[in-house]
Amino acid sequence: MKKEKKSASISFLPALMGLAGPYKLFVILNILAVIGTAVADAASGYFVKTITDVIQGDGMQMLVGILPLIGGIVALGMVCRFVSKTTAGIYSFRVVRDLRKRSVDSLLASRFSRIENRHSGDTISRLNNDLGELRTFFQDSFPKLVYYPLIFAIVVAYLTFMHPLLTLAAFGFVPLLLYLDNLILRPWSKYAAIEREALGKMNSVAQDTIAGIPVVKTYHLEETLFDKYKQSGDVFLKNMLKRQRLNANQAPLEIFTSFLPYIVIISLGGYFVITGNNGMTAGSLFAFSYLIHFLMDPLQEIPALISEARLASASMKRIQDLLAEPVERTDGFVRDAGENQGPGCPQIIEFRQVDFSYNGAEHEPVFSGLSFSVPEKSITAIAGVSGSGKTTLFKLLCAFHEPAAGEIMLEHRPYARWKPEAIRSMYSIVAQDTYLFAGTVLENISCGKPGAGTDEIISASKTANAHDFIMELPQGYDTFIGERGNRLSGGQRQRLEIARAVLKNAPILLLDEPTSALDAHSEALVSEALSRVMEKRTVLIIAHRLSTIQKADNIIVLDKGKIVEEGGHHELLEKKGAYYRLYLKQCRIDELRLGESVQ
Ligand SMILES: Nc1ncnc2c1ncn2[C@@H]1O[C@H](COP(=O)(O)OP(=O)(O)O)[C@@H](O)[C@H]1O
Ligand SMILES: [Mg+2]
Repeated sequence: MKKEKKSASISFLPALMGLAGPYKLFVILNILAVIGTAVADAASGYFVKTITDVIQGDGMQMLVGILPLIGGIVALGMVCRFVSKTTAGIYSFRVVRDLRKRSVDSLLASRFSRIENRHSGDTISRLNNDLGELRTFFQDSFPKLVYYPLIFAIVVAYLTFMHPLLTLAAFGFVPLLLYLDNLILRPWSKYAAIEREALGKMNSVAQDTIAGIPVVKTYHLEETLFDKYKQSGDVFLKNMLKRQRLNANQAPLEIFTSFLPYIVIISLGGYFVITGNNGMTAGSLFAFSYLIHFLMDPLQEIPALISEARLASASMKRIQDLLAEPVERTDGFVRDAGENQGPGCPQIIEFRQVDFSYNGAEHEPVFSGLSFSVPEKSITAIAGVSGSGKTTLFKLLCAFHEPAAGEIMLEHRPYARWKPEAIRSMYSIVAQDTYLFAGTVLENISCGKPGAGTDEIISASKTANAHDFIMELPQGYDTFIGERGNRLSGGQRQRLEIARAVLKNAPILLLDEPTSALDAHSEALVSEALSRVMEKRTVLIIAHRLSTIQKADNIIVLDKGKIVEEGGHHELLEKKGAYYRLYLKQCRIDELRLGESVQ
């Protein structure tokens, strides 16, 4: 255990120093204060011995002589305790705050693929539970990991100096005890790591349950989700119990540190004083019995502290994993401010032999050798059955993913030479699964252009056919729309998103089946708004509705990631191929919908 305790504190010291950054001074001050506390505590034993011996030897004058020294040591102990508590608070809170900030920064800068692949519940668990664990460790356990080994070493040295034989008799068992402790507690960190993982999964399920409550209730998924939660909960509990059992196995050994040394010191030490063995004085015996708890406490506390260090280590690993995940590049071409404002710039998109697959080459490719071009201020419709790659195409356009081979060109410049952020500033996107933030209508629209004036926002809302319904809301533009905008209808949410896109005023508009989930009335309002927004812009639209597709200058028909047909509406109908078949299917759906809305 001694070796372990050393390694736990030593391996954490560089890690802490690495994280401490600007607060290094507080860490150093803390360590110095802890050292001061240990010295003051150990010195008090020396005074106990001296005072006892002096009183016995009638040396009151000497007692008066050392009083200032005692006062000095008491003052040192008080000051050091104060400084160590204060500094521990300062660095632990600040280090963890910085880590939290870095984690969130890294999340914001992370590649889209990571966000698609990782459950947000697990990430939240890292930000809350793991960072919380680290804070507790740095604030409470770290100073103790410095204090206990140090006081142990000083006191052992002093007692050995006073009476080696008695020290050996009382504490000779310690190496064996350390060995046994280490043996028993070795699997601790493994269980702690599994426990943390399970906690992450539990958070993920809890989050799914809350976010998906309508689906959970209508599909009676309560039991399924509960089982899933229970499964992770069981793993969590099982590993916690295993850790607890290790602690229980170790507990009987505490007898060696709580009771036996006292018996040895009182009986053997008393015998030595009476027989005058090796110059053992009553003062030495008093000092032994007084100082003993400075040895017992470390022996009892250090196993728990090592466990804390192991738990913190598991948490640290999870945070480091989060920080080490690949982030998006931030270099590349950026247009001058103003140049990309509004429609009118000579943008053109071109796909040149683009290959792409999700999660690396071992997966089925979504695109192989995809090539097409989009002239400026044209409307291009992307058609194709579900799963043919339409949404993926948009993700590539927004630079959320990079092609494995080939090039995407924007304004004759390859994507690889653009800064991803600058690419995205060229696009406004309106999708089916609109994301609105838990805030007011105004906040949600204005994030399209931070700092936009009220007039601009109202004008954008009017273009998006949203102003009228917003004015009917209880607090108008200041109405709180609930988490993900769930206090609004689908059509209303969609129109808020269009208002946001209008406000952004980007030259290229991406529309991903924005009306397919709406009723006929909402669809009419949204379509009307969209046709206003589409004017004078380059538009790529994923559309099923014939009314929208027919308006397109060019239609690209995708099937399993390949372009099977391309051309104008009439031209493609005449071919009687894939587009024709999609067209017939859609006609039937539209007829059915028409029938429904007439009824
Ligand atoms: N994040 C993802 N990870 C792995 N595969 C995905 C992901 N998103 C989509 N896919 C797969 O890529 C293919 C194309 O999907 P998508 O572009 O969404 O199709 P569409 O929008 O045309 O319905 C599908 O086979 C789908 O299963
Ligand atoms: Mg899609």
